[in-house]
Amino acid sequence: MNSRLSRNLLIIAFILLFTTKFSSCLIEHASFDSSQVKETEETKQDESSEPSVECVECFGDLNPSESSPSSDDHLNERPVIGIFTQPYNDTHDYIMASYVKFVQLAGARAVPIEWRDSDDNITELVSKLNGVLYPGGSTPVRNKDGSLSDHSKKVELVTNLVKEYNEEGIHYPILAICMGFQQITQSEAPYKDTLTLREFDSANNANNVSLTEDVSESKLFEEMPDHLVEALEEENITYNHHYDGVVPDVFEKYSNLREEYHMLGVSYDEKDQEYVAVIEAKNFPIYGFQFHPEKNIYTWRPDMEIPHSRVAIEFSQFLSNFFIDEARKNFNRFDSHEEAFESRIEHIPIDFPKDGGQDIYVFEI
Ligand SMILES: *[C@@H]1O[C@H](CO)[C@@H](O)[C@H](O)[C@H]1NC(C)=O
Ligand SMILES: *[C@@H]1O[C@H](CO)[C@@H](O)[C@H](O)[C@H]1NC(C)=O
Ligand SMILES: *[C@@H]1O[C@H](CO)[C@@H](O)[C@H](O)[C@H]1NC(C)=O
Ligand SMILES: *[C@@H]1O[C@H](CO)[C@@H](O)[C@H](O)[C@H]1NC(C)=O
Repeated sequence: MNSRLSRNLLIIAFILLFTTKFSSCLIEHASFDSSQVKETEETKQDESSEPSVECVECFGDLNPSESSPSSDDHLNERPVIGIFTQPYNDTHDYIMASYVKFVQLAGARAVPIEWRDSDDNITELVSKLNGVLYPGGSTPVRNKDGSLSDHSKKVELVTNLVKEYNEEGIHYPILAICMGFQQITQSEAPYKDTLTLREFDSANNANNVSLTEDVSESKLFEEMPDHLVEALEEENITYNHHYDGVVPDVFEKYSNLREEYHMLGVSYDEKDQEYVAVIEAKNFPIYGFQFHPEKNIYTWRPDMEIPHSRVAIEFSQFLSNFFIDEARKNFNRFDSHEEAFESRIEHIPIDFPKDGGQDIYVFEI
């Protein structure tokens, strides 16, 4: 029995070996013609006389510049986005890596804006960036009296600089997510009732967005494909994680918000309370979302109800592309490629907290 089995196996192995060899021969034979032999020989000669271009680039022998030729003179194809740090614990600040990957997804580099840095340093950094992102988080947005927290003041400094650039004709976008959206709102209307604290039951909640009439005047929605608009309205593709929020009345009540921003969409929490979900500045490329588009693609905590459906991912990818397309209209740049390279977030150590899958960049205070 045993010897018959091993003999059969031997025969099968022999047949397999033979067919594999034979069929690969067939393939080689099919593509074999004399012109190709000649081409291969020429290529070989080229390779032996000069190193290949890839090698030169790898080892940095090319002349580094931040203004390499672009296929379109009207676009900056080397965009760099600044992302704000915020407090993590007594010794460290942080940036959640999902925000970094969210801008890299569309072809941009990420540079940290360290919120503890001096106003002068932040101002100088902003002059070299092509867009900024205000992330979500749980840093206090305002003090009890409605005035801005120290962190929100740094965000406000950058918002004001960005507005000045835009007023001077330099296109400069901001993308503000969750807490970042709340910070912009609070800084436009620094009152106690702008941000409603701890009232919303929208922690760990997949939701839809009901759009307002203002979408007809929105650049974001002008460019959004119809099937994504439909999914946003009808499927629960946005991920929300907040107790604080902005009620739509605030946008009626305070003139800075009413006159300078479109309220483009609202969502409802588990208790059916309405909160503002999407805003867009009327005169600036400033966009704010109460939900988290970066989490759909990059956050995998099993205890979070994050929509990972095909259309939810495509929606997030659209928002990333839209924002970075805005940044490509900005031609600010670092003094040299080295300076841009040194500023990149990749120089910051990354940490993997044990809570199940949200890697963070950590900054020693
Ligand atoms: C703060 O977090 C960092 C990064 O995870 C860690 O190395 C450090 O020990 C923490 N500090 C405190 C005081 O917990
Ligand atoms: C501002 O930048 C300078 C030069 O890079 C640095 O030496 C200084 O520590 C920075 N200031 C703050 C407050 O971080
Ligand atoms: C969007 O969500 C709201 C509240 O959860 C719900 O009442 C509404 O029917 C949803 N819209 C659509 C089109 O599904
Ligand atoms: C969206 O979520 C709401 C509230 O949790 C739920 O009532 C509704 O059925 C969900 N809609 C879809 C299309 O899953």
